[in-house]
Amino acid sequence: MILSVKNLKKSYNDGETKLEVLKDISFDLKKGSILTIKGPSGSGKSTLLSLLGTLDTQDSGDIIINDKNLDEYDDFSEIRNNHIGFIFQFHNLISELNVTENVCVPAFISNKAIDHNFLDTLFEYFQLTNKENAFPLDLSGGEKQRVSVMRAIINKPSIIIADEPTGNLDEKNALKLIDLFKKLNKDFGLTFIIATHDNKVFDIGHQKMELSDGKLLNL
Ligand SMILES: Nc1ncnc2c1ncn2[C@@H]1O[C@H](COP(=O)(O)OP(=O)(O)OP(=O)(O)O)[C@@H](O)[C@H]1O
Ligand SMILES: [Mg+2]
Repeated sequence: MILSVKNLKKSYNDGETKLEVLKDISFDLKKGSILTIKGPSGSGKSTLLSLLGTLDTQDSGDIIINDKNLDEYDDFSEIRNNHIGFIFQFHNLISELNVTENVCVPAFISNKAIDHNFLDTLFEYFQLTNKENAFPLDLSGGEKQRVSVMRAIINKPSIIIADEPTGNLDEKNALKLIDLFKKLNKDFGLTFIIATHDNKVFDIGHQKMELSDGKLLNL
């Protein structure tokens, strides 16, 4: 298993009341598979992804990535930079950096030498070879989202976490992104965890789950 989650609980203090968002979440994910998660707005999908991505910490329960429990780490930056790739609803590209520089940000952060062969392969694979030196402002929405996917995989992460990746795209670009995820999964064996309201995205899951009332159910 690339990921095991056991009895995960997370609540937020909302003034005097405690908001229990994740009540008891357990599941396993196999390497090279796609997990899709749906659920009503406010059900806790982003909360769950932020825990899995080490952006926040749970109240209790365990998250085990590549056989190592996250509570064994003193500092999450190593695992975050090397094992996890993030794709958000908004591409969050840095407007002052060109496309190549944006893609390489995670490599800079983790002090990794840029693998130029891999970079060239990625640009060809993503059909963005003519945009290497362009700035985000000069790209279409779909192109920006593809650049953000390249950025998510530049460090060859174990798991790619995507929160509403098509939420800001039109139908055509959403379909293109869905095909790209399927292709990346098939060609490179990349593991995905995707939270989505979009049924077309939801349907690409090998494992499909629904978050409701703080619980995660297999569909
Ligand atoms: N930092 C926070 N402090 C307090 N409450 C929070 C915090 N983050 C999220 N919440 C609350 O936790 C609940 C779950 O939010 P979350 O963003 O995980 O939902 P979601 O399923 O991703 O929703 P959406 O589909 O709208 O993106 C919501 O009620 C939200 O208001
Ligand atoms: Mg959300």
